[in-house]
Amino acid sequence: MGLDRADDAGVYKVTDDIAMIQTVDFFTPVVDDPYWFGQIAAANALSDVYAMGGVPKTAMNLVAFPIKEMDIAILRQIIQGGLDKMTEAGVVLVGGHSVEDKELKYGLSVTGFIHPDRILTKKDLKAGDRIILTKSLGTGIVNTAVKGGLASADVIQRVTRLMATLNRDAAHIMGHYPVHACTDITGFGLLGHLAEMISDMPFGIRLMSQEIPIIPEAVDYAGMGLVPAGAYKNREFRECMVDFAPSVDRIVQDILFDPQTSGGLLIGVQKDKAGELVAELQEKGIQEAAIIGEVMAEPEERIVVH
Ligand code: CO
Ligand code: CO
Ligand code: CO
Repeated sequence: MGLDRADDAGVYKVTDDIAMIQTVDFFTPVVDDPYWFGQIAAANALSDVYAMGGVPKTAMNLVAFPIKEMDIAILRQIIQGGLDKMTEAGVVLVGGHSVEDKELKYGLSVTGFIHPDRILTKKDLKAGDRIILTKSLGTGIVNTAVKGGLASADVIQRVTRLMATLNRDAAHIMGHYPVHACTDITGFGLLGHLAEMISDMPFGIRLMSQEIPIIPEAVDYAGMGLVPAGAYKNREFRECMVDFAPSVDRIVQDILFDPQTSGGLLIGVQKDKAGELVAELQEKGIQEAAIIGEVMAEPEERIVVH
């Protein structure tokens, strides 16, 4: 699988039983604490392997650091955060590269493995599939409130932990179910990713906005207008594919377009197993997991939000 069919990661078949998954991701700090930033950047980079249904095995650090202006101790904490997250994921750090840069950036290139027959792409949804989301939405909005100095210490801590949470357990659990398609939520927001999953496909999606897990404070902050520019960009790009029922207010719409950092998995699973999958996810600690919608044969290439 290559550039002709962009997915969460590249996949290369090595033998009939083994395919290699490769992905790379890095970004500028999303939280003030360097150790937690390292964890979040690593969880985010590893996520694309999980979204393909794979298991990450090795990783390399990517670092851009303003060595003349910033204390090297900050970089040590970032790298420690990344390393601890890799250890948690059972991933071995095998190298890396650093450059001097005005703007601090950190991330990983990750290699994982999967059986070639079990690769989960974004594009294999089937009519009737139920759509499951495994993490609450609203991190972009909360991070905007954090930058504005308006977020409480409690919500900062909760959202930091949410972003640093690996999608490993969710990926492992979904491996035992008839899952047809999967991706992870990032900067394009929930609706951006759903739009991608159905574009050029003979399907539509019906979303139930009341079932979608949302960070409660994100509703308050969005109501105060603390919506990041990326959410407006996502809306501009994809609103032509989305029909909102009159009952879905503007705040909820903004949250569904909100760009996420290290968001959850978006899973399309065979209808009759969806309830069981969500129950197992919740039972094993992924409490926010919920069935948020379904794949419809009609209307094609449209997302209807109720
Ligand atoms: Co992805
Ligand atoms: Co990515
Ligand atoms: Co995928």
